[in-house]
Amino acid sequence: MPILNILRYPDARLHKVAAPVTVFDESLKKLVADMAETMYAAPGIGLAATQVDVHKQVIVVDVSDRHDSLVVLVNPEIVEATGESDIEEGCLSVPGIYELVQRAERVKVRAHDQNGKAFTLEAQGLLAVCIQHEMDHLQGKVFVEHLSQLKQQRIRAKLAKQLRKSA
Ligand code: NI
Repeated sequence: MPILNILRYPDARLHKVAAPVTVFDESLKKLVADMAETMYAAPGIGLAATQVDVHKQVIVVDVSDRHDSLVVLVNPEIVEATGESDIEEGCLSVPGIYELVQRAERVKVRAHDQNGKAFTLEAQGLLAVCIQHEMDHLQGKVFVEHLSQLKQQRIRAKLAKQLRKSA
């Protein structure tokens, strides 16, 4: 299975809004498998289809140390959100940047799995933050865009410098 190319902020394609999945076919299963492999290889704890330039509502998440707790969320919807998290987050599309963003501490999410089966997931802590972060991607929003304009400018400058160094 191929490792997919992850878009880097501030790539404009990260701002596309993902469409709901309507067909649960083999190509969806392949996308999920490739996204999981790409996330584990990075390594990361979450990946949204948007980040691999596929604009469908598909997310993979695994916050376990052993990489044995993969959660696949297709067409996710938050139906309940409570509390306030204090977990700093990072993003495979914004390497080396870690910032605190306002998120709920607990969420209840309704979604489908890759076979089209509906389920409800209750998450808290890191898993809850990760799901909210990935769901933002599906709406075309990168986590740093929750920060002040000044902070965003600094982050873009830092990333541009990183790119020049690696070139
Ligand atoms: Ni991200």
